[in-house]
Formats: sequence, structure tokens, C-alpha cells
Amino acid sequence: MSQRLSMASLTAAAASTAGATTSRLLAPAGLSLSSSAAASSSSSSSSLNCLRSATSGAHLFLRQRGSVLMNLSKRRFSAKCYASDPAQLLSAREDIRELLRTKFCHPIMVRLGWHDAGTYDKNIEEWPKRGGANGSLRFDAELKHGANAGLVNALKLLQPIKDKYSGVTYADLFQLASATAIEEAGGPKIPMKYGRVDVTGPEQCPEEGRLPDAGPPSPAQHLRDVFYRMGLNDKEIVALSGGHTLGRARPERSGWGKPVTKYTKDGPGTPGGQSWTVQWLKFDNSYFKDVKERNDEDLLVLPTDAVLFEDPSFKEYAEKYAEDQEAFFRDYAEAHAKLSNLGAKFDPPEGFSLDTAPPRPAPEKFVAAKYSSGQRELSDAMKQKIRAEYEALGGSPDKPLPTNYFLNIMIVIAVLAVLTYLTGSY
Ligand code: HEM
Repeated sequence: MSQRLSMASLTAAAASTAGATTSRLLAPAGLSLSSSAAASSSSSSSSLNCLRSATSGAHLFLRQRGSVLMNLSKRRFSAKCYASDPAQLLSAREDIRELLRTKFCHPIMVRLGWHDAGTYDKNIEEWPKRGGANGSLRFDAELKHGANAGLVNALKLLQPIKDKYSGVTYADLFQLASATAIEEAGGPKIPMKYGRVDVTGPEQCPEEGRLPDAGPPSPAQHLRDVFYRMGLNDKEIVALSGGHTLGRARPERSGWGKPVTKYTKDGPGTPGGQSWTVQWLKFDNSYFKDVKERNDEDLLVLPTDAVLFEDPSFKEYAEKYAEDQEAFFRDYAEAHAKLSNLGAKFDPPEGFSLDTAPPRPAPEKFVAAKYSSGQRELSDAMKQKIRAEYEALGGSPDKPLPTNYFLNIMIVIAVLAVLTYLTGSY
């Protein structure tokens, strides 16, 4: 496995170097490539990825600089290509959804994303020395850190997707998998952005010891030391700890948890371990309820979980989240997105967000002056009826009927004239 990963890493390194060269290329006008080919290619060169990203994706939309929505399928030629190919990211997301559905690996994907990003040190400016979401966790050097025990399994699951989409960076793939896992488990939509550049070699991995311990002598102080170093605050510490609503701890990995409980003996996925919640594949606020109550021996409470209801500042948020799932979802989504960006170098610098839902055309303005008194809104049923009437005549409520009024009037006059003539009233 490690050999395979190292090979993959080397390939990625080479691709990433080539990508850097081609990432400033302009796509030639008039070139057209099919979106399915773009999405599924595994052997394409970086420059082809670049062109593909500029031309493909019937449902592809990029939100750039926070406001401009570009429909690439219409524009076809973007000026520039990015660290990851947006069309391939969208396809990779579908593959991740399928993986989640078949392997029930939501928790480990969330942990993978968090551990790649959570090495960030805000006091170090230089990338990638500062750590963070840069894909360094794919290297054995970092996977071997004690805190990452077991995460090689997440990488094994994602590697075929990485192999399929050579235009997606590891750094983006890890964060995509994590955010998708949260959403697929019933959690909030995370306002993610993409375009993370990968580190290229194991020498760029952070040193061991940047991630939190579960049982330090002073849990509150330890959590603050570690998360403040990442630039996160008390609210974000508590919200992110809610990630433990998913998954299990396994003694053979972290040394924490029971080998098996009544909630984990049958899986889904590989049986065993001890979960924090009863439904450990469902993302909700039950973590806060269960940690607060602490009355089920089969549910796990780490010292760093318990302290969320002991430290006065943490407690304020933990109590709120136990009561109010909406507040938890809101704060979690925001904190997760922030975590996923820590230390990342984006290309384009502002990143880009994926949006699969094509913007709907603005609803047609409904004009029904003919029927409406103007006093009150028509019911939908009535609007439909009116529209059907218009359409039966080949028109639409939004524009005058194409009926030839002039001709109709002439016919009526002609008929009247004939009738008058026949009845002899001239
Ligand atoms: C606050 C400090 C944290 C500590 C001390 C901590 C510690 C742990 C430990 C010991 C495990 C068990 C690993 C195993 O045995 O396989 C674990 C699992 C997990 N952690 Fe954390 N964690 C922390 C924060 C977070 C955060 C911020 C997230 C996500 C936002 C997270 C998400 C998870 C998930 C989803 C699992 C389950 C993994 C699985 O089932 O394979 N943790 N964590």
C-alpha cells in the first residue's frame, strides 16, 4: 500500500508541477470537448485537464469573487484553469456519494479532512510549512503520526477516485469527501470552496504533534492551545467537536473506546469500536445531548468531550447546541468551511465553489390584468387555468394574444352586414 501511495504521490507531484506550468494557459477559442470525456478521463495530461475544465460540464457553475456566476457550459472558454478541474470535482463528488452509500465511511472521511487541515499553524506564514489543507496527509511520513492511526483506510478508499480524476488535487479531494460526508449524513450544507494546491513531497509534511490529544492533563487549556494556534475560537472548538456525532473510536487505533458495543456490533461498515452517539452515521445534535447526559456506558465521552460541559465558555455553546440543532448546524457549517481552508494555497487565489444546481431562469412575470381586479393575488390554480386558456389560443399571459383581433372584428362586421342586408333593415 505504502508503495502504491508513494507512486501515486510521485505521479501527483509530477502532475502538479506540469499543472503549474499549464495553469496559466488560455484555452483556444472554438475548441469543444465533451463533458463526459472530461469527467472520466484518467490519463489526460495537465494541459488537457486545463482545456477540459474550460469547456466541459453541462451543470458546472463557478462562483468567483463571491458574486459572479459563470455558466461554463455556455461560456465554454474560461480564461484560466485552476489547481483542480471543477468538472472533475463535480464528478468525483458523485463517486464519493456512491462510496459513502456502499461503504458507510462518512466518519473516517470527516476525520481525514480534519486531520489534513488541523495541522495549520497561524504563526507560520510560509506555505506549506504552516501546515493545513494541502494534501500532505497522503504521505506515509504523516500517516504514521500517532494521531492519524487508521486514516490509511480512508486514503485507500479515496485513491481509486483520485486515480480516476487526475485533475483533482488530494487537498481538494480530502475536503470534498469530508464536506460531502457531512451533507450525506444529514448535516448542513457546508459553504465550501475549492482550488487547493497539493504539496509535492513528504519533506513538506508538518512535524508530528500538531493535532489534539484526547486525554491531556488539562483538556480545556490543551484544546485552546491547539485550536487557537489554528486561529479558531471557543465557539468553533465546540461546534467542530460536534463532528463526533459521527463515528467510533477503536482501541486498536487510538487507544480510546471499547472494542465493541451494542451500537457497533453489527456495523454498518466494519463492526466494532465505541461511538459517541447511538446513530453514529446520522449527523445531528445528539452528540451534545449524549455528552451532557453521560448515562450510557456504551457511548463514548473523551476527556476533551466532557470538558465542553465543564469549562464555562465552552459550556455556553455546548448547552445551546444540545437544545438547538439549527444553531449547531449553522455554526458547524461555518466552522467546518473555515477549518477546511486553513493553511490552504488556492489557485485561483480566491478559490471557487461548486454549485450543481443550475441557476433557474427567473420565474416568468405573470400578467393577468384581464382577469385580476388588482385587489388580490390569484391562486395558483387560477393562474394555471388562465395560462391554459391562453395557451389553448396559442398565446401566453405575458404577452398579448397572437389572435388577429382586427380580422375577427372585420368578420363580425361582415356577418352583421350580411344579416342586416338579409333582414332588409337597410
Ligand atoms: C477536539 C479535539 C479532538 C480530539 C481530541 C479528537 C479525538 C478523536 C479520537 C481519539 C478519535 C478516535 C479515532 C479512532 O480510534 O479511530 C476520533 C475520531 C473521530 N473524530 Fe475526533 N477529535 C477531536 C476533534 C475532532 C474534530 C474537530 C472533528 C471533525 C470536525 C473530529 C471528527 C472525528 C470523527 C468523525 C471521528 C470518527 C472516525 C471514525 O469513525 O473512523 N474530531 N477523534
